[in-house]
Amino acid sequence: MTAHIDLSAYRRYFPALQREINGQPVIYWDNPGGTQVAQQVIEAMTRYLREANANAHGTFFTSQRTDEIIATARQAMADFLNAASPAEIVFGPNMTTLTFAFSRAIGQTLQAGDEIIVTVLDHDANVAPWLALQERGVVIRTVDIHPENVTLNLQDLQEKINERTRLVAVGYASNAVGTINDVQRITQLAHAAGALVWIDAVQYAPHGPIDVQALDVDFLVCSAYKFFGPHLGILYGKRQHLEHFPAYKVRPASNAVPERWETGTQNHEGVAGLIGAIDYLTLLGEKQAAHYAADPRLCPYQGRRRSLKVAMQAISDYERQLSAQLLPGLREIKGLRIYGISGTAPDELAQRVPTVACTINGHHPRALATALGERGIFAWDGNYYALGLMERLGLEGRGGALRLGLCHYNTPAEIERVLSVLQELAGAGN
Ligand SMILES: Cc1ncc(COP(=O)(O)O)c(C=O)c1O
Repeated sequence: MTAHIDLSAYRRYFPALQREINGQPVIYWDNPGGTQVAQQVIEAMTRYLREANANAHGTFFTSQRTDEIIATARQAMADFLNAASPAEIVFGPNMTTLTFAFSRAIGQTLQAGDEIIVTVLDHDANVAPWLALQERGVVIRTVDIHPENVTLNLQDLQEKINERTRLVAVGYASNAVGTINDVQRITQLAHAAGALVWIDAVQYAPHGPIDVQALDVDFLVCSAYKFFGPHLGILYGKRQHLEHFPAYKVRPASNAVPERWETGTQNHEGVAGLIGAIDYLTLLGEKQAAHYAADPRLCPYQGRRRSLKVAMQAISDYERQLSAQLLPGLREIKGLRIYGISGTAPDELAQRVPTVACTINGHHPRALATALGERGIFAWDGNYYALGLMERLGLEGRGGALRLGLCHYNTPAEIERVLSVLQELAGAGN
């Protein structure tokens, strides 16, 4: 971790953060469900709708402008993920729909008895699309967690991978408890067995740098609305895979990569908004560049790719500071239980994003989220579609847990206020 870093100056780029309830600024801790958008996103989307609104591939100005915007967004996203080529970036409505489309396509190439590995830790969007292939006789194996700190059991993963494994579907970070998985190691294990990896990076993307080439992942999916952009799904796939698997498409549509995977008319204003999100992160990276001038991890990157890596490293470093403040404060609250890594040693902070699931004895998570909401503190309760995990933790059917989901525009002052409200709520119940 670098020396103390303060990103509070970037709050001014988010108009929603100006909102107040009862004279107090709203605290947006619902970020794992969707972040607020930067001003650059709002401007790019309205500009598109005002000046370039059209369908793609026409001969006239607005259509050509639309084609340019899609190409620019693809390049921006390739830079964000350090993909080799913009042709490896596919847009879609959201991560879930993209994953269902690809599981169906990949499923066409599988035989009965082939195996796919999923995990207990994952959001159901990276489980259900693979379970659907059981209809074809595909065997699904589910990797367990270490329940004491809710980290993935890599030993179990290793034991479940075998010569029949065709794909390993795993999350980069848990949207429920914040655990970061060792994607590089998991990819090596999968590849050693001849299997592909499908990485759900929806929850990780707003919290840290991603390099699909360094990780050597086959597929990686994320959603712009979780990293300060609009509602839009994005898939990275190695070019040979995008060419090889059979896409479900209408006959007149292009069979070229990546367009063959983009069924129907895309959300063009969302694609334009994605450029705004990448512009915002690039600006953050440019402004933080001096802090990271000597950071060896960033040496391989140049130009905008470097600025984006700086931005995401700065965000990761800042968020670790937030976790280091939040976790001990939560541990002091009577009856509060954290599900996941709760320690603040550097190696523990490095294994989580600041997404914390907790319960307080005697309080239903829905009642806690409601009480927080009434005080202008927005947070989710429930299972957040991390169904397998909530079942494994014994929380499913009991209201799940309260989720405190921070990102880089949250502040130490917000943490103090939320901790004091939770103290008050915990005391009121006992
Ligand atoms: C980890 C994770 N994966 C997948 C999804 C589904 O993403 P989308 O809404 O883009 O389908 C979410 C949404 O909450 C998520 O947090």
